[in-house]
Amino acid sequence: MAEILIHNLSKTYRASNGGLVNALEGIDLEVKDGEFVCLVGKSGCGKTTLLRIIAGLEQPSAGEVLIDKKLVGSPDPLVGVVFQEDRLFPWRTVRRNVELGLELRKIARNSRKKATETYLRLVGLEGFADALPHELSGGMKQRAAIARVLANEPGVILMDEPFGALDAQTRNQMQEELLEIWSKHFRTVLFVTHSVDEAVMLADRILVITPHPGHIQCEYRLTMPRPRERLSPELIEFRQNILADLNTDVHST
Ligand SMILES: Nc1ncnc2c1ncn2[C@@H]1O[C@H](COP(=O)(O)OP(=O)(O)OP(=O)(O)O)[C@@H](O)[C@H]1O
Ligand SMILES: [Mg+2]
Repeated sequence: MAEILIHNLSKTYRASNGGLVNALEGIDLEVKDGEFVCLVGKSGCGKTTLLRIIAGLEQPSAGEVLIDKKLVGSPDPLVGVVFQEDRLFPWRTVRRNVELGLELRKIARNSRKKATETYLRLVGLEGFADALPHELSGGMKQRAAIARVLANEPGVILMDEPFGALDAQTRNQMQEELLEIWSKHFRTVLFVTHSVDEAVMLADRILVITPHPGHIQCEYRLTMPRPRERLSPELIEFRQNILADLNTDVHST
């Protein structure tokens, strides 16, 4: 487990027409050990940019990110990232995809095998270890991508709309599975989603990001136990308040 601390973070891009894009400004954020935080906000408000900076894939223009008090400067295998698309290597079997991070870290074959089996079982893919990614459904591919990240036993997991490409039913199922995994391992999770419905099912805390420049407008703390009842009056109220913040139609989650 690990904590994330962000101080006064800003990011300005230079667009191809030469102009400047203020993607993020003045972001201050503290995510505690084992906390599950969701970021919601309109397209272009800077969610992916923030995740990429925390992952060390991008440098901030100002400010800093600390993970367990260490300054983030480059990608670290102990900070796992799950993207919207699975990013599995098509020529590697599911098992060898999950094993990849351990291979890169030169973990001994026996330990690799054990960890890979554990995490494939955890995501319900033990029967598909020798399949190639193209033989899996969208949900199964995302499970494999999650197993690959978990196999590294990261302290922090960053997820950028990991279920965005899935149908509603699979998506709900994946949310339940993710919560089950999280409840066993309690990694710190920062989860980006467009769906307020998804955020209220998952999060301890929801941050609403507003665009141009992207900054944290407000936050909501949710203390209801999980699994949560999607249609409970409490969740409906949270959804309505957050949607009002986002200035979005209540029906378009
Ligand atoms: N490499 C880049 N070069 C220039 N501008 C960029 C770059 N990456 C992102 N931006 C700009 O930064 C802003 C934030 O983009 P970002 O991808 O972080 O948004 P987002 O909240 O993840 O959106 P979405 O919900 O659509 O994924 C946008 O205005 C985008 O055009
Ligand atoms: Mg994005």
